[in-house]
Amino acid sequence: INVNVTDISDESGYIAALGKEAAAKAAAAWVRDEMTVGLGTGSTAYYFIQEAGAMVRAGIRLRAVVTSEATGKLAASFHIPVIPPEEAQTVDLAVDGVDAVDTDFCAVKGGGGALLREKIVAWKAKQVIWIMDESKRVKNLAGFPLPVEVLPFAASWAADAVKELGGNAVCRQRDGKSFFTDNGNRILDVVFPKDRDPRLAAEAVRQIPGVLETGFFDRMCSRILIGTTGGVRELVNPNKEKAPLQGRTVPGWKNGCV
Ligand code: 5RP
Repeated sequence: INVNVTDISDESGYIAALGKEAAAKAAAAWVRDEMTVGLGTGSTAYYFIQEAGAMVRAGIRLRAVVTSEATGKLAASFHIPVIPPEEAQTVDLAVDGVDAVDTDFCAVKGGGGALLREKIVAWKAKQVIWIMDESKRVKNLAGFPLPVEVLPFAASWAADAVKELGGNAVCRQRDGKSFFTDNGNRILDVVFPKDRDPRLAAEAVRQIPGVLETGFFDRMCSRILIGTTGGVRELVNPNKEKAPLQGRTVPGWKNGCV
């Protein structure tokens, strides 16, 4: 992954890049020897992966589960051992960026198209840290474009279904070509009017057959680190309800695939 050059092309972009890097460095404080870490995707996650690479060079034993092929390549370039999910009993800590986060610890992710694996890793992880610069913090997510991963077979019908729900869906293109995720799926970029509750709208979209996951991350983080011009601000998610959902093991149930 290359850090997006637009990040450093003007003063506000430069400040954003500094904020991302500061938040990523702060997240390293939660990394411990022998942890399995979930590595996110994007320009903010890049700084954390770089940091984790430096820790590995310093002798800290880490294993990583990655949320995209690009992150996998990047982690390998920093000599971070990458393991597939079936070899990870658990994920101790996942660190990832966001596109936007509201005051209720809900986020929209998927700008980079990696939302499905990002959500799976966030769900499995015991702790999730979202790292960001100040520009990602919004009052609420109403009207914010929601990336949705959909099976290619269902993409146009799912887009029609979104319209019936009162939204608008555009099948993502990149460089003038159809965009496909690492899982071989399409991304619909969905917008609902600002008066629609973003959580309920995402839940309605998720019910459409062929939709695999949405980029609405409902309070899935343990803490948020925001790199600001005045230092790194930490917000701790007080919501306890989600804790039992994270990486739980069910007694008497044999985990793993055969
Ligand atoms: C990728 C993501 C990214 O975390 C999100 O798009 C933020 O990216 P960046 O750190 O480059 O701003 O969800 O699917």
